[in-house]
Amino acid sequence: MSKVSIIGAGAVGSACGYCLAQRGVVNEIVLLDIVPGVAEGKALDMNQAAAIQRFDTKIVGVTNDYDAVDGSDIVVVTSGKSRKPGMSRNDLITSNAAIITSVAEQVAEHAPNAIILMVSNPLDVLCYCAYNVSNFPKNRVMGMSGLLDIARYKSFISEKVRVSTKDIQALILGGHGSTMVPMPRYTTIGGIPLRQWMTQKAIDEVIERTRLGGDELIKLLGTSAWHAAGAAICQMIEAIICDQKRVFPVCTYLDGEYGLHDIYIGVPVILGSGGVERVIELELDQEDKVLFYESEREVRENLQILKEMR
Ligand code: 2OP
Repeated sequence: MSKVSIIGAGAVGSACGYCLAQRGVVNEIVLLDIVPGVAEGKALDMNQAAAIQRFDTKIVGVTNDYDAVDGSDIVVVTSGKSRKPGMSRNDLITSNAAIITSVAEQVAEHAPNAIILMVSNPLDVLCYCAYNVSNFPKNRVMGMSGLLDIARYKSFISEKVRVSTKDIQALILGGHGSTMVPMPRYTTIGGIPLRQWMTQKAIDEVIERTRLGGDELIKLLGTSAWHAAGAAICQMIEAIICDQKRVFPVCTYLDGEYGLHDIYIGVPVILGSGGVERVIELELDQEDKVLFYESEREVRENLQILKEMR
């Protein structure tokens, strides 16, 4: 029996819930929202889609009732305000940190053995906040960002080179913001290095578009996007529930790896039933180091804002 709770049944939370229900890898999904009726309504709608989409996952919707979260294996946190056009993820720190503090307290009380999968922005800082408040071990608190950023990167490469995204292997390091570090050196198509497929100019264009991938969507939609994020969260949940030992970029706590301490930032890890089972330390060349540590600086500046709030 496996149970996943999703805190926040807005667009990202419900896209994740519906994607997860169809994958059939968990028995029960709880959607929890603070707005009365929203989670209940979305759960009812998804349960009615089950007959057509042919899944057996049970979906329960509740209004702010954390008793329903009891015994969850994974708690996904999407709560908080989302960005509007012109806002950076960092503009959300103060309002969302207060929300995440109260959510993490409730999760720690109701699902003390769960893995917390953070999604709310600014992601890296709010992972740190959830880790501190919940007091869970570092392997059980992580964030989803790299898989979404890589999905965008792959989609832009696939558009330029006209190959299937299925054959693209890629890596992105760093924080979930415009300083993220897509790694062409670790990107291949069918095992063939990216630089044999694309000019440097085309690669630079893809990198820039990836870094601003979230902003491009916000300009079009007036708010953050949800389908790719929901699918990326599901992929992480599946890796954990099915103990797949996937190698994924995950926002995780570093305790000396990459020479960094006391920070959440995106790096490749092995993801399985133990959560973040191992952080993979890559050898960075000089250029990668400059970019990665610049991203670290941005995350630390935001962490400072969080710490000053206390
Ligand atoms: C994004 O990049 C919402 O941060 C999320 O779309």
